[in-house]
Amino acid sequence: MTTTEQPDTQAEVLRSRIAAELERTRARTALLTEAVDDDDLTRQHSPLMSPLVWDLAHVGNQEELWLVRDVGGREPVRHDIDDLYDAFKQPRKDRPSLPLLPPAEARAYVSTVRDKVFDLLDGIRFTDRPLVAEGFAFGMIVQHEQQHDETMLATHQLRAGPAVLDAPPPPEPRVRVADEVLVPAGPFTMGTSTDPWALDNERPAHTVALPAYVIDAAPVTNGRYREFIAAGGYDDPRWWSGPGWRHRTEAGLSAPIHWRRDGDGWAYRRFGRWSPVRDDEPVVHVCWYEAEAFAAWAGRRLPTEAEWEKAARWDPGTGRSRRYPWGDDDPTGEHANLGQRHLWPAPVGAYPAGASPLGVHQLIGEVWEWTSSTFRGHPGFTAFPYREYSEVFFGDDYRVLRGGSFGTDRAACRGTFRNWDYPIRRQIFSGFRCARDARPEEAHG
Ligand SMILES: [Fe+2]
Repeated sequence: MTTTEQPDTQAEVLRSRIAAELERTRARTALLTEAVDDDDLTRQHSPLMSPLVWDLAHVGNQEELWLVRDVGGREPVRHDIDDLYDAFKQPRKDRPSLPLLPPAEARAYVSTVRDKVFDLLDGIRFTDRPLVAEGFAFGMIVQHEQQHDETMLATHQLRAGPAVLDAPPPPEPRVRVADEVLVPAGPFTMGTSTDPWALDNERPAHTVALPAYVIDAAPVTNGRYREFIAAGGYDDPRWWSGPGWRHRTEAGLSAPIHWRRDGDGWAYRRFGRWSPVRDDEPVVHVCWYEAEAFAAWAGRRLPTEAEWEKAARWDPGTGRSRRYPWGDDDPTGEHANLGQRHLWPAPVGAYPAGASPLGVHQLIGEVWEWTSSTFRGHPGFTAFPYREYSEVFFGDDYRVLRGGSFGTDRAACRGTFRNWDYPIRRQIFSGFRCARDARPEEAHG
């Protein structure tokens, strides 16, 4: 800034917020990649996952492409590695056999890129150019790194060997939560046109009218899920869709991943440590087909994406949609189990301050919740900044997950945030809640 320009307080506030988010995020990336040795970093822990060192350099490469080169117009740091770290060109199963940057080089690369980003952030003007307005590209890069941090956390969960991650246990229940909540019929605003760092698939805001429905006040728990297992739910094709039953049979599904029989009960392995399954926690590591089968067994169904979002955002007092169930303020540790603050979901009733006005709990954090919806653009969707962000995934192949998990950072989680995955996937921190149509006497009661 030259001395003739007025200091722009708003720009300064945005600049320091971006810097803080970049640093906070990089600290998490460092934690996840420094917890293991070089051999562990370069090894593939599951064919579903990249070696951690791929995620690390990929994060830096995306930051270089979008911020250093595109926003900053600077010379490439390393254009020779672009293809290696292009997620579209390199399927996950092939990534370990690529000539990847070794850990020390990957670390040096991401920090060189980061130095350049801080340098350009110092002098940037947040003009109307869509990529820089309100710091969008920086927000996109923060979210991208956080999403890879969650992916790396899932890799840690799949990794064999002794535990390397530590965190305090989540809070205990503070209130008793009802079983279900009625959401009255009527329109609500879905999506957003104003959240500055919202991604293209969350936009634009639009009105959706829904009939009355009933939704679980909390995610389905391990205790309920054990009842489904004990009732022979995995062996009864009545509860499974055709493709679901085929997958269940081919993959030999009989319980969530990381579960094993333990005497009369069950135990689960969480980041290298076994413990008895706790009944009042949301179930995690189930695929969409398992969620669908449980719901059928329970006489319920999965909520649509719109039903999930109305339960999470609609304020019956004002009729407007909030950014989060509790209001418009960013999440704190009182609202939700987010950001790897804890290493597993909290029991039901642990976050009363995060409940929606209608009394729906733990929508944000805990587990990604499968919905019945396939991944589509909202009406009026425009791809930004590129088709590969969301649009190439639209169609019937993917199901939408909402709400974020204990491993999702607050920067990559809003009431409008959308995630998507194949219905067979369960190495992610995925769970669900159920819904049903309201009965006429409920709807008009
Ligand atoms: Fe990526």
